[in-house]
Amino acid sequence: MKFLVTAIAASFIAALAAVRCAAGQAQGTATTKTCVVPSHNDSKTDDSDSILSALRSCNNGVGGRVLFSPDVTYTVAKAMDLTFLRDIHVEIAGTILFTDDTDYWQANAFPLGFQNATSFFKLGGSGVEVSGGGTLDGNGQVWYDLYARDIYAKRPVLVALDGLHNSTIRDLHLVNSPFWFHLVANSTDITFSGITIDVASTSSNPAKNGDGWDTYRSSHITIRDSQIHNSDDCVSFKPNSTFITVKNLVCVGSHGVSVGSLGQYPGETDIVEHIYVHNVTMIDTTYGARIKTWPGLASELSGELQGGGGLGRVHNITYKSMHVHNVTSLVLIDQCYGQSNATLCEENPSNITISGINVSNVLPF
Ligand SMILES: *[C@@H]1O[C@H](CO)[C@@H](O)[C@H](O)[C@H]1NC(C)=O
Ligand SMILES: *[C@@H]1O[C@H](CO)[C@@H](O)[C@H](O)[C@H]1NC(C)=O
Ligand SMILES: *[C@@H]1O[C@H](CO)[C@@H](O)[C@H](O)[C@H]1NC(C)=O
Ligand SMILES: *[C@@H]1O[C@H](CO)[C@@H](O)[C@H](O)[C@H]1NC(C)=O
Ligand SMILES: *[C@@H]1O[C@H](CO)[C@@H](O)[C@H](O)[C@H]1NC(C)=O
Ligand SMILES: *[C@@H]1O[C@H](CO)[C@@H](O)[C@H](O)[C@H]1NC(C)=O
Ligand SMILES: *[C@@H]1O[C@H](CO)[C@@H](O)[C@H](O)[C@H]1NC(C)=O
Ligand SMILES: *[C@@H]1O[C@H](CO)[C@@H](O)[C@H](O)[C@H]1NC(C)=O
Ligand SMILES: *[C@@H]1O[C@H](CO)[C@@H](O)[C@H](O)[C@H]1NC(C)=O
Ligand SMILES: *[C@@H]1O[C@H](CO)[C@@H](O)[C@H](O)[C@H]1NC(C)=O
Ligand SMILES: *[C@@H]1O[C@H](CO)[C@@H](O)[C@H](O)[C@H]1NC(C)=O
Repeated sequence: MKFLVTAIAASFIAALAAVRCAAGQAQGTATTKTCVVPSHNDSKTDDSDSILSALRSCNNGVGGRVLFSPDVTYTVAKAMDLTFLRDIHVEIAGTILFTDDTDYWQANAFPLGFQNATSFFKLGGSGVEVSGGGTLDGNGQVWYDLYARDIYAKRPVLVALDGLHNSTIRDLHLVNSPFWFHLVANSTDITFSGITIDVASTSSNPAKNGDGWDTYRSSHITIRDSQIHNSDDCVSFKPNSTFITVKNLVCVGSHGVSVGSLGQYPGETDIVEHIYVHNVTMIDTTYGARIKTWPGLASELSGELQGGGGLGRVHNITYKSMHVHNVTSLVLIDQCYGQSNATLCEENPSNITISGINVSNVLPF
């Protein structure tokens, strides 16, 4: 009986696909237009105008394709607002290098409105497919050294989504982000896969805050089949992240897969629910599963750790099958995040409720 149902469903989908394909050809929309992005290929001269014009020329076309050629470095020296993308395939086979002009970026990167994050570019629109096996290089070293002198330096996120829907991002190598590697904001129905993340400082100043992914004001996001080598959260669910799936990741040297921090901003309501984390391998990480909420009173512990007094809930979070090797704390629920004064937290407990947390099948190897 079960077999019969499956067979009928499969032929029904095949028939639908055939109709859609024929309709596309009839309207003349199935042809592929390719825009190859030219480059100075000298790792110095700005290529952002060429990038913008290729994306504009091949936008809005079913099958429109923009190619960043292999063996070429594209230099980006200007902030790019890429929130106009519709039905486009962006194939990055070469390297995109963001300049190390920290003064320019601090003045011109897009402010993202949360924890002082900014970004080199922001991606938005719908029907966007990014792939190609190429590299995005955030030139992080200057930022790690700058942070050591100024903790308030506005550091850009390497890949920022702001209002992107129904899109996929896959097969990319991301290196040395100044700050988090991804911020997924205001977005829905996004799948990331085949992403490799590497961060390393060559000076005595560590690469700070290099989270793999942070999700924010977003739902129906999948992050899968990727390898992360970093020193902060592997994935972190920031305020208003719902229906997020994380699976088949390898997280090396990270702080684990975290909910939060939540409740940092007084009076704001932060919601994280319906999260499914499955088959994640944690190697040399400080935590496996972590939930961080601020106390119920705004207070300042240090320049970077100030906040508390927010409201909200954490609900229906599943961590299933965590393969762990050299993980310091497997599960940590911290309701006094960003504060070292336990008395203060006891007197002002966090206003974020936590329920429906299920961690199962933790497998040391
Ligand atoms: C781009 O520059 C690199 C490094 O100089 C060189 O190896 C590569 O062949 C160049 N690519 C093209 C397409 O000329
Ligand atoms: C997300 O959308 C909100 C509401 O439209 C807007 O205020 C905000 O700037 C957008 N971007 C981010 C990163 O939150
Ligand atoms: C953001 O930067 C300002 C200084 O520009 C600082 O006062 C504030 O604490 C920072 N906020 C966070 C959350 O780091
Ligand atoms: C999502 O995008 C794909 C192209 O990547 C398109 O074929 C599909 O129709 C879109 N779906 C919706 C619901 O917009
Ligand atoms: C998160 O969602 C809650 C409930 O809808 C809303 O009150 C709050 O403003 C949202 N926060 C952000 C940062 O969008
Ligand atoms: C679990 O993830 C690993 C990659 O880390 C993958 O090789 C393996 O096939 C996944 N297992 C399942 C059951 O999906
Ligand atoms: C709990 O979250 C999972 C994963 O996102 C979702 O599939 C499920 O429907 C949620 N359960 C409830 C009762 O909301
Ligand atoms: C265990 O992981 C920690 C990082 O959490 C690392 O500093 C340490 O070197 C690792 N130990 C071994 C034996 O690899
Ligand atoms: C800790 O918090 C309590 C309650 O707010 C306060 O009385 C005490 O002075 C604080 N201790 C320190 C060391 O700041
Ligand atoms: C938030 O927590 C504080 C300290 O526990 C409490 O005084 C306050 O009433 C709470 N606010 C809400 C809206 O629950
Ligand atoms: C937690 O997850 C495990 C594994 O999926 C399941 O067997 C168990 O019933 C769940 N527990 C609760 C309380 O939902």
